[in-house]
Amino acid sequence: MIRVSKLGFIGLSAVDRDGMAEYYSRIMGLAKQEETPDGLYFSCGPEHHAVGLRFGSEPGMEHIGLELAGDGSLAEAQKALAAAGVPSEIRSDTVPGIAECLRLADPDGATIYLYRQAEPSAKAYSGNGGVAPTKLGHVAYFVENAKRSERFFTENLGFRWADWVEDVFLFMRCNADHHTLNFLQSAKRGMFHFAFELRDFSHVEQTCDLLARENIPLIWGPGRHGAGHNIFIYHHDPDGNIVEYFAELDRMSDESLGYYDPKPYHEDSPQRPKVWPHHPLSGNKWGVRPPDGFGAINLARKTA
Ligand SMILES: [Fe+2]
Repeated sequence: MIRVSKLGFIGLSAVDRDGMAEYYSRIMGLAKQEETPDGLYFSCGPEHHAVGLRFGSEPGMEHIGLELAGDGSLAEAQKALAAAGVPSEIRSDTVPGIAECLRLADPDGATIYLYRQAEPSAKAYSGNGGVAPTKLGHVAYFVENAKRSERFFTENLGFRWADWVEDVFLFMRCNADHHTLNFLQSAKRGMFHFAFELRDFSHVEQTCDLLARENIPLIWGPGRHGAGHNIFIYHHDPDGNIVEYFAELDRMSDESLGYYDPKPYHEDSPQRPKVWPHHPLSGNKWGVRPPDGFGAINLARKTA
């Protein structure tokens, strides 16, 4: 079976071209890596880009890019997917910085590009300050049936479940980080939010002050999530996408142990993947609830 080792990039359809370019370069502090007639690409680390903006008329997520572990050919990966009944196609030069990738759709129609090698970034950060997160950490999107998403990503792409909130909010990991993808069962469709890692709590504080200077209000946080135990803040980018900055996300450094690296704020000792109750304190251990409508979990069970 093929196995995903990390989240590499997210592709967004960008409506407010100038505002989005300004936000991701000057405010987030990412370096513009490439400009095409219809888009802009920003790096956040050693690879070509973490955020791709393609100018469009509707905002939101266009695709996610997942790097494959190992060094086999994409044709072999395609064969393995086909054997499991998952159609895919090999594409060349579809995504800037990725010479060859495998395009497929998840059960909700989300576009996924699998790749083995991204071009290096010429420059990881703008050099002009800004938030300067350490990496693109995770993407969360709405799905019709979270159990179905779990099966798809476990059986075909080597993900493991990290935590559930009841059976409607699923966190999945593909490496030591607690989650790389989140699936929120909802009547909504599309992206819920995407998230960038900050160094520590003082970096979160600096980021709150930086956003305040830019007149960008927080919509939730700072707080500490239950599942994943990360410190979080959420705000909107100029297109209205929900962007999370986080720190102190749980990590399972040794997969064979089966529990997250112990922390004093854990409820369990040791803290293993588990099913959390749908309760405000699972969302924020510090007790402040999200604004109305945030997330919009659909508690109607879909266990088929
Ligand atoms: Fe998140």
